[in-house]
Amino acid sequence: MKILITGGFGFLGQRLCKRILEIGELVGVNDETCAVSRVVLFDCSQPPPDLPTDSRVTFTKGDITDAGQCKNLVDEDNMLVFHLASVMSGQGEADFDLCWKVNLEGTRNLMEACRARKGSRFIFASSGACYGERAPGPELDSMKLLPQTSYGMTKACCELMINDYARRGFLDGRVARLPTVIPRPDINSGLPAAFSAVIRESLFGRDATLVVRPDLRHAVCGFRVLVRNLLHLAQLPEAALAGSSDRCMNMPSLSVTLLDLHQAVKKVVRDPAKLGRITFEPDEALSAKLSTFHNDMDATRARSLGLVGDSSAEAIAADFVAEYVDESLLKPVVELEEEPRHWLTLSNPYLRVFRVENPPGDQTLMHRHRGNSLYFFFENTRTQGQKLSEAFLDDAVSCGEIRYGDHASCNLVHRIRTKGPRVMCCLDVEFTASDCKPEGGSEGPDAKRARTEPPAIAGLSLIKERPTARVYSLEVPAGGSWQGALPFERMLWIVHRGARVSGGLGDSFLQPADVFFREGPQQLSLEVLGGQRSLALWLVELL
Ligand SMILES: NC(=O)c1ccc[n+]([C@@H]2O[C@H](COP(=O)([O-])OP(=O)(O)OC[C@H]3O[C@@H](n4cnc5c(N)ncnc54)[C@H](O)[C@@H]3O)[C@@H](O)[C@H]2O)c1
Repeated sequence: MKILITGGFGFLGQRLCKRILEIGELVGVNDETCAVSRVVLFDCSQPPPDLPTDSRVTFTKGDITDAGQCKNLVDEDNMLVFHLASVMSGQGEADFDLCWKVNLEGTRNLMEACRARKGSRFIFASSGACYGERAPGPELDSMKLLPQTSYGMTKACCELMINDYARRGFLDGRVARLPTVIPRPDINSGLPAAFSAVIRESLFGRDATLVVRPDLRHAVCGFRVLVRNLLHLAQLPEAALAGSSDRCMNMPSLSVTLLDLHQAVKKVVRDPAKLGRITFEPDEALSAKLSTFHNDMDATRARSLGLVGDSSAEAIAADFVAEYVDESLLKPVVELEEEPRHWLTLSNPYLRVFRVENPPGDQTLMHRHRGNSLYFFFENTRTQGQKLSEAFLDDAVSCGEIRYGDHASCNLVHRIRTKGPRVMCCLDVEFTASDCKPEGGSEGPDAKRARTEPPAIAGLSLIKERPTARVYSLEVPAGGSWQGALPFERMLWIVHRGARVSGGLGDSFLQPADVFFREGPQQLSLEVLGGQRSLALWLVELL
């Protein structure tokens, strides 16, 4: 598969390229998994010094305002195009004509180049700047876009253009509406820049004065989550978006203040005294302008399609330390919700569900599991695990494997490295109601035994039983249906193999690792639509 990244020398383009090379294969047109044969980074600026030295990568300097160059770039059918090149908000306000030319005409040039080929998939980075002034409350996917900058206006126009090109079948367009992605490693301008600076400057040991009100809320996400989500959006089966005329969606974000981020940095480092000093001298006019930007982007639709959000501001700060500063500055062990590859996807008084994805070559930070957990794996791959103060040990996980960890009686502190060949993808279902121990906690009440006999329900097979939960499997063939009376007080459904369904888990396209929590005995029916995909589910009964 050939991949084009416009704006490939920029902040997100470089990170996206790195991740694609690590993963090595992507799901493309016709839902087929293909090896990445070439990644073209296209940009008008000077290439940065640390570009990847990988034979699959080529660098092309050029300008998307030149339609001929765009045509040359999209020189194959079935290409995957990430369109990230853009004039940004500050420059757009300073130069309206350039903003119009690059962001509107440049995008159209690229879309026309895709249209001239078959099967182009087009992923576009839009922005929360599309929203502009609006009524208080979260920014919803369904809201009218009233941007207050020329940059935001061009992004909003591109969203409509992409919807129409997709409707006509000119290309398969998908639009990620981004919050502010933090922290950028280099000093940048623009109103939201303070949300990067508060992390970056203090961690680089530099004093900084920030001119935005410290209590002003803004929607942000970490770079790791954003890159992962762009790739997830790009690989969604066509069936997952079928039936919607809107290809645009808010990316998951955290609504945070500068104070939140400042506290988060202090919490994850070994020695807060070594941080640069942050002082606040708010400029009221600047803060008022920034308060019209996105401050709480609702991403219900994206989350329902398997996109994820950062678990905490601490996770964003810890990731920056490890990637751009020096991992030894971090405290030796981070909590589960502070580990940047553990994405909290469901949380209630009984359990927390983290989705964990770790590409080949990548490894988690050393982190602590305090609660008993069930782990569900979705890929065959080899890993290495290292417990605190021990050596790495080889391991292998397989798709469909389920493991249990009794961590409440003895906390697990470890890190995981993926050796490959595939991304390590797992759901960590942590039972919060079990007797979690504080750090170094001694032996407590023994885990409870199952109180009842497992019920016999047609279609459900008991495949694992532990003191906190039982796991059943359920398979429904393509075009088939299932219904059953479920006597459970609390249950978690996990999708192992997805399909388009209707019934008790909604009318949607279910994908591996989707989760649904239900309480109380109930009658559930499921119909698997279409004749191609069968559905495989796990049901976790909480004991
Ligand atoms: N980073 C964020 O916080 C954020 C938030 C919302 C949206 N976005 C969008 O995400 C995309 C990537 O953002 P980023 O942070 O990597 O930006 P960036 O500024 O780091 O990278 C953009 C790249 O586009 C290139 N470019 C600009 N004009 C071009 C042209 N005419 N032809 C070819 N290349 C051109 C620039 O040289 C730059 O390298 C952009 O479209 C941006 O609007 C980013």
